[in-house]
Amino acid sequence: MRAYKNILVTGGAGFIGSNFIHYMFSPSSGFKGNIINLDKLTYAGNPLNLEEIEKKEKGKRYFFEHADICDLENNIKLLEKYNIDAIVHLAAESHVDRSIHGPGAFVKTNILGTYSLIEACRTIWKNRKDVLFHHVSTDEVFGSLGQEGFFIESTSYDPRSPYSASKASSDHLVMSYYHTFDLPVTMTNCSNNYGPYQFPEKLIPVMIYNMIERKPLPVYGDGKNIRDWLYVEDHNSAVWLVMQKGNIGESYNIGGDNEWENIHLVNTLCDIVAREISVVPEELKSLITYVKDRPGHDRRYAIDCNKLKNDLGWKQSVTFKKGLEKTVKWYIENQKWAQSIRSGDYLKWMDTNYKER
Ligand code: NAD
Ligand code: TYD
Repeated sequence: MRAYKNILVTGGAGFIGSNFIHYMFSPSSGFKGNIINLDKLTYAGNPLNLEEIEKKEKGKRYFFEHADICDLENNIKLLEKYNIDAIVHLAAESHVDRSIHGPGAFVKTNILGTYSLIEACRTIWKNRKDVLFHHVSTDEVFGSLGQEGFFIESTSYDPRSPYSASKASSDHLVMSYYHTFDLPVTMTNCSNNYGPYQFPEKLIPVMIYNMIERKPLPVYGDGKNIRDWLYVEDHNSAVWLVMQKGNIGESYNIGGDNEWENIHLVNTLCDIVAREISVVPEELKSLITYVKDRPGHDRRYAIDCNKLKNDLGWKQSVTFKKGLEKTVKWYIENQKWAQSIRSGDYLKWMDTNYKER
C-alpha cells in the first residue's frame, strides 16, 4: 500500500471533488495527511460543498487555493509550497451539453490544464518514485455501445463529443508522461456518478428539482439511451484504492453494473420524489416531456470493472435504490445549497440549453 502526506485535489469544489474531500476526511479512508484543494471556482465549483470541512479542518489539514490549473508557474509553486506527494486530478469542464455550445473552455481546461499539471509534476518531482499523479477520467472516451458489449480498459478510444474528446486527449497526455518521462501515474475511467452536490445541469438533479417545482421533465430523444450509474462515494473509494494499490502506469475502469434507460430512470425518480413530497407519482410523471435529442447523443455506456474488483478487491457499498433515495432526500433537504446555484448564470444556461429543444 502506498501512503501520501500532502494530496493536491484539483476541482475539489465540484461535485465529485467535494465528495472526495469529504470521503478522505471520513474514517472510511484511513487517510491521516493533508488535503490541498486547487479550484478556479467556475460556475460548477461551490464553496458551500465544503462548508463543514472548512469549519473543522481549514488551516489544520485542509487548505484552499483559488487558481486555474492552466497556470503552470502557479502549479509549480503549489507543488513546492505544500510539498505535494500525490495529485488527484478532477478539475475539468464536465458537461456534454455545454461542450456542444462552447468547446473552447473544454480544450483549455481539460487538455491544456492537464498538461500544465503534469508538466509541473515533471519539473518538481523529477525522478521521484514515491509520488503519484492520479487522473480521473470517464467511460465516455470509449464512445457509444450498441445493445451488446462492455467497455474494458483496452477498448479503443472513440470519443464523440467535444467533452469526451478533450478527456480522451488528457488521458493520452497523462499516459504519455508515464511512458516517456517515467512519471508515476494511475488513471480511472468511471461511468455516470450521482449523489449530493451535483450541479443541477446533469440528469438526476435536473429531474429532482424540476419535479419539486412542477416544471417539465425534459427527456432527450426517445429516452432509450442507456447509462451506467454509480454512487459518488463508491467512485471515490475506488479512486483512493487505485491510488494506494493500483499498478503504476495502468488504468482501471469503475462502474456500477447498473444500466438504466433514461426514461426508466426518470419514472423511478418520479416514484421516489412523489413518496418524499407526498403526492401521487402520476402527477410528476405527467411532467415528462420528450424534447429534441442531443446532437451525437451516445446511445449506451456499459462498463466492465472486473480488473478493479478482482485485482484490487473493490466493492460497491450502496445499492441503486438506497443511493437514489439518499440523493433525493439530500436535494430536498438542502434548499440553501440549491438557492446558492439556482439563480443568475444557472438560469441563463437552463434557458440556452432547453429553449432550443
Ligand atoms: P464538476 O463540473 O462538478 O466540477 C468541476 C470542478 O473543477 C469545479 O469545482 C470547477 O470549479 C473546477 N474547475 C473547472 N475548470 C477549472 C480550472 N481551469 N482550474 C481549476 N479548477 C477548475 O465535475 P464533476 O462531475 O465533479 O467531475 C469531476 C471529474 O470527474 C472530471 O474530470 C470529469 O471528467 C470526471 N468524471 C465525471 C463523471 C460524472 O458523472 N460527473 C463521471 C466520470 C468522470
Ligand atoms: P448527463 O447527466 O448530462 O450525463 P452524460 O451526458 O455525461 O451521460 O445525461 C445523462 C443522460 O440523460 C444522457 O443520455 C442525456 C440525458 N438527459 C436528458 O434526457 N435530459 C436532460 O435534461 C439531461 C441533462 C440529460
